[in-house]
Amino acid sequence: MDQLKFNQSISQLIKARYSCRTYQTRPISNADLSSLEEFISTCRIGPLGTQSRFKIVAAKEGDNQSLKGLGTYGFIKNPTGFIIGACRDNPGALEDFGYLMEAILLRATDLGLGSCWLGGTFTKIRFSREMELQEGEFIPAVVSIGYPADEPFWLEKTIRSRARADHRLDWEDLFFYQAYGIPLKPAEAGKFQEPLEMVRLAPSASNKQPWRIVKKGKAWYFFLRRTANYPNPVFDFLINIADLQRVDLGIAMSHFELSALERNISGNWIQENPNIPQSDSLTEYTATWQIIS
Ligand SMILES: Cc1cc2nc3c(=O)[nH]c(=O)nc-3n(C[C@H](O)[C@H](O)[C@H](O)COP(=O)(O)O)c2cc1C
Repeated sequence: MDQLKFNQSISQLIKARYSCRTYQTRPISNADLSSLEEFISTCRIGPLGTQSRFKIVAAKEGDNQSLKGLGTYGFIKNPTGFIIGACRDNPGALEDFGYLMEAILLRATDLGLGSCWLGGTFTKIRFSREMELQEGEFIPAVVSIGYPADEPFWLEKTIRSRARADHRLDWEDLFFYQAYGIPLKPAEAGKFQEPLEMVRLAPSASNKQPWRIVKKGKAWYFFLRRTANYPNPVFDFLINIADLQRVDLGIAMSHFELSALERNISGNWIQENPNIPQSDSLTEYTATWQIIS
């Protein structure tokens, strides 16, 4: 992925992004589509080494066929395009998918496009057909895109208030020093204060914010703290939802690393035994980011 391809700063883009569910009807310009496609062509392998594949489908002027059947169960009004992504069921694949898709979404924000992650509310069969899925591939989530409308449609306000979409957990719930239970305060995070704040602001499925990070030495250990009974097991079975909280972890990794890189702090991702006792049975280790000094 080419992090130099952003015109605005990562912090600006992360702060500007929100789940946009109401779009103008005007199609996405060819210039914006080609810039996004160019960026997508650099997003193939995620930080945990697995491959994802992405494709944009967009409506053209006077065309009401391209997006036909690509439904969102009424959650999105007037989408003029979708970013569809597919991966395989390998360890690390959902995190890599989340990492890459979020970077693409930030590039879309950079181009003035609104966007909304859709992990549950999209018509799986029609999107799979559009993506021409290969053997073993599946679509964990798609992203709707388009130019944001001035006013949200009536359902958007309800969805936002039910998900408490503007709320985020505090630092003391998310970031720790050496072990769980010892909060890492913003002032103690040094040059990592901003990358961590960018993780805190990240979007997540149903806004559950399942990421937890422990700093130990020069390394940052990323954990997934699963939300109990999420998603609802019956709902999950019925519509065959992917493990979206692993996708959320990938999004957090993306915000952290893009923000660090912007500050000229480089590191790499490894998976190892973290040697940090986990806080409870809902918590699982994902990956470690270690600074390259
Ligand atoms: C992996 C993932 C899946 C999501 N799936 C849906 C979805 O199916 N339908 C929907 O309306 N919003 C979906 N969202 C959007 C979240 O509800 C939203 O990000 C969260 O409430 C925070 O609001 P914000 O994005 O405006 O900051 C999803 C977000 C993520 C990260």
